[in-house]
Amino acid sequence: MSKIITSIKEMQAQSAALRAKGNSIVFVPTMGFLHDGHRALLVAGRKMGSTLVMSIFVNPAQFGPKEDLSAYPRDLDRDLKMAEDEGVDIVFTPSAPDMYPDGFKTFVEVEGLSNTLCGASRPGHFRGVATVVLKLFNLVMPHKALFGKKDFQQIKVIEQMVKDLDLPVEITGVETVREMDGLAMSSRNSYLGPQERTAAICVPKAMEEARKLVDAGEAESRIVIEKVKKIIEKEPLAMIDYIRVCRSDNLEDAPVIDEGSMLFLAVKVGKARLIDNTSLK
Ligand code: PAJ
Repeated sequence: MSKIITSIKEMQAQSAALRAKGNSIVFVPTMGFLHDGHRALLVAGRKMGSTLVMSIFVNPAQFGPKEDLSAYPRDLDRDLKMAEDEGVDIVFTPSAPDMYPDGFKTFVEVEGLSNTLCGASRPGHFRGVATVVLKLFNLVMPHKALFGKKDFQQIKVIEQMVKDLDLPVEITGVETVREMDGLAMSSRNSYLGPQERTAAICVPKAMEEARKLVDAGEAESRIVIEKVKKIIEKEPLAMIDYIRVCRSDNLEDAPVIDEGSMLFLAVKVGKARLIDNTSLK
């Protein structure tokens, strides 16, 4: 049975004790409503150390005032079953008032990386992510932590924070897990109605066409972006937020496609904001 800890003091005491005994702590932070993308992090994490900790916390600080905090899907029983199946030792589920008590004043701002792509569409989002991840690191005290490459920008922001603040934790990125038809798994896919779910396929389809174009010799990002835009625009239920080709190291626009460039997309279908990315070479 996975042990469930809700108290932040207990989590910290438990981690300190585990460390003192020489255990290596591996950590997978989540917001719950787990799917096979989360499972891939747990499977990879299980092999990386002796104690596997997963957190479930829907972090208010990373949701904008008009975003889906109260509607965010939850199913703790199902999540605990997956934790059990994947050999999670500790499930940490703190409460929002414990994480952000009255008078909470300190936030982590990772400049630059936080303000482009999803950060431009969701002001304050990565400030909330960086803050909660640092808090969780301080509570779980992991040696290693795993994050999914579906949220590529999130990994970059966290890696920058770890470097700048000298955090003693090693970050590992895990490949995106997809549905059979290519749609990246996401807790928010549960917002999609049947027609919207079909429409959502335009995202992986457009990424595939972009890769084909680059394979055929196209090196100009402008042309690839135009092609992707046309494919998404053909789908009446899809609304483009952004389509960009950026360098994977600093997330700045890459006008010419090379090994270091990636395609990033954010597309709204109904209530779901779908994000995805792919290398192009
Ligand atoms: P959440 O969306 O629950 O995702 C938890 C972790 O699972 C993240 O590292 C995310 O990148 C990864 N993940 C989600 N879908 C995936 C997929 N299809 N394939 C592979 N990995 C996937 O991301 C968050 O929560 C939060 O921002 C958090 C880091 C927990 C901070 O609150």
